[in-house]
Amino acid sequence: IPLKNYRNFIIVAHIDHGKSTLSDRLLEITGVVNPTVDNKQVLDKLDVERERGITVKAQTVSMIYHYRGEDYMLHLVDSPGHVDFRLEVIRSYASCQGALLLVDASEGIKAQTVANFYLAYSMNLHLIPVINKIDLDTADVPRAEDQIEETFELLRDDIVHVSAKTGFNVEYLLPKIIEDVPAPPAEKYNRELPLRAQVVDSWYDPYVGVIMLVNVVDGSLKKGDKVEFCKTSERYEVKEVGVMYPDRRPLPLLVAGQVAYVIPGFKDPNNVFVGDTLRKVGSAVEPLPGFEEPKPMVFVGAFPADGTDFKKMEESLQHLFLNDRSVVFQRTTSNALGQGWKLGFLGSLHASIFKDRLEKEHGKNLIITAPTVPYKVAFKGGREKIISNPDDFPDGTKKSSVVQLSEPYVEALMTFPKEYTGAVMTLCENNRGQQKELQYLSNGQTLMKYDIPTAHLIDDFFGKLKGVTRGYASLDYDDAGYKPSDIYKMELLQFEVVIQARANGRVVARETIKARRKDVLAKLHASDISRRKKLLSKQKEGKKHMKSVGQVHIANDAFQAFLRRE
Ligand code: GTP
Repeated sequence: IPLKNYRNFIIVAHIDHGKSTLSDRLLEITGVVNPTVDNKQVLDKLDVERERGITVKAQTVSMIYHYRGEDYMLHLVDSPGHVDFRLEVIRSYASCQGALLLVDASEGIKAQTVANFYLAYSMNLHLIPVINKIDLDTADVPRAEDQIEETFELLRDDIVHVSAKTGFNVEYLLPKIIEDVPAPPAEKYNRELPLRAQVVDSWYDPYVGVIMLVNVVDGSLKKGDKVEFCKTSERYEVKEVGVMYPDRRPLPLLVAGQVAYVIPGFKDPNNVFVGDTLRKVGSAVEPLPGFEEPKPMVFVGAFPADGTDFKKMEESLQHLFLNDRSVVFQRTTSNALGQGWKLGFLGSLHASIFKDRLEKEHGKNLIITAPTVPYKVAFKGGREKIISNPDDFPDGTKKSSVVQLSEPYVEALMTFPKEYTGAVMTLCENNRGQQKELQYLSNGQTLMKYDIPTAHLIDDFFGKLKGVTRGYASLDYDDAGYKPSDIYKMELLQFEVVIQARANGRVVARETIKARRKDVLAKLHASDISRRKKLLSKQKEGKKHMKSVGQVHIANDAFQAFLRRE
């Protein structure tokens, strides 16, 4: 199939507006999946996605469509709708020339539709507006049309009305994509040049090892080719290439313009960097401009409970994160909880998905701390440090060289019915928000932008927002950088122990043993003998004292609840 007959597109939609359902219909029309088999939502592959009904990892599917006597190769690049995954979204958009802008006929435009629209628009994608769910009784098609016209300045006549559920009108979309979306431009995608392919995504398969999704920009690639990564100079012999159809379908050759998979024949996912360029060994072509590295916005600590095998737990955690390279996974040590791991996530949804999985798999064997954000400390002389472990936070008692503390903010974009405007403003102000924009959309919706500290966002801000709008609000957000902040460290130190002597029901003597600062943490965690021994040997001075005071047991549950701020 010649390059001019390729179409690479995405579907841009708010959560639940029907992206997966529409994708399934398109796959049925093109014969990639069989409508009689229960193939609901082929694209949402991970279990967690099915459970939560959201798309997390981008899955790409190729289709072949016969139109006016010619074959077309269509690559539907799936992208997550939620902004926690913005980098994945950008990667997906970058390999496309067009987008279906999908709007639910009964809900109209929501925060994510707006945010993703601007991103697609800024990346020069050709947009085809589609109104979905027109079969619903609550559908208000003219209202959705008004919104599309006013907010996105797209032509009413270009809007396609469909029901992804019943399949109504969906057959008009493929011809429209072929007519309206440009082919990958020949000046950017050249089959005659030496190979350059950009890694868009990678995942781990227990049978074949690492699989990469690549955007082939120049040249071609086949099984047996010797290739190298520009970033690491690691060399491999390609084991298999092909397209996702909807599962892996091997092909003899990949050519420029395709978004396809490559099996490089190794097991360690740490060898692939998304955004890196693949070229043939011996070729001196320049790497393609890379993507930013994912930057964690939310951190949680995970610590094995007493008696849990550290090594085993670590292996099991590593396994869980193999398929999500955006999770930062590092060893850490906490005064209170001993050795454990620090996990960095892209946002609060991302963190909570993994928290659910960890809890399901490890239950009481793992203590997971409440999420925190990374703070920035600026020292005299211009040195700066990012701190994500509370232990490292400078305490105000010592004379310090700290000149400025800053915390991360997000720009929150919210839409909700107009009557809740006051309540939402109050909520944002109470969460130290700063207003950036206020717009009344047609049909009674308000669009509001606030800069809000990330620390508040991750403290169930969305839940609170839904609370004050009776569930009608939608939220999207983007990183807004660091802003100076007036924050302090609060430490919980040891309590006093009172010893009373009682005789005949009367207290006859009383002694208060004063709090000692050093050994409190050892006592908090005193149920595991071997860990305690280790801690105690570090704290010789506390040891003597502890013997005389006795032990304080804090149940694991209580401790977890405390850390979760419940
Ligand atoms: P995310 O993966 O979370 O982004 O959601 P999505 O946009 O993929 O939405 P999905 O396709 O899962 O659809 C959400 C819900 O809307 C499901 O219950 C679908 O059955 C339903 N739905 C999708 N399209 C239609 C439609 O045309 N009509 C009706 N009545 N329901 C639809």
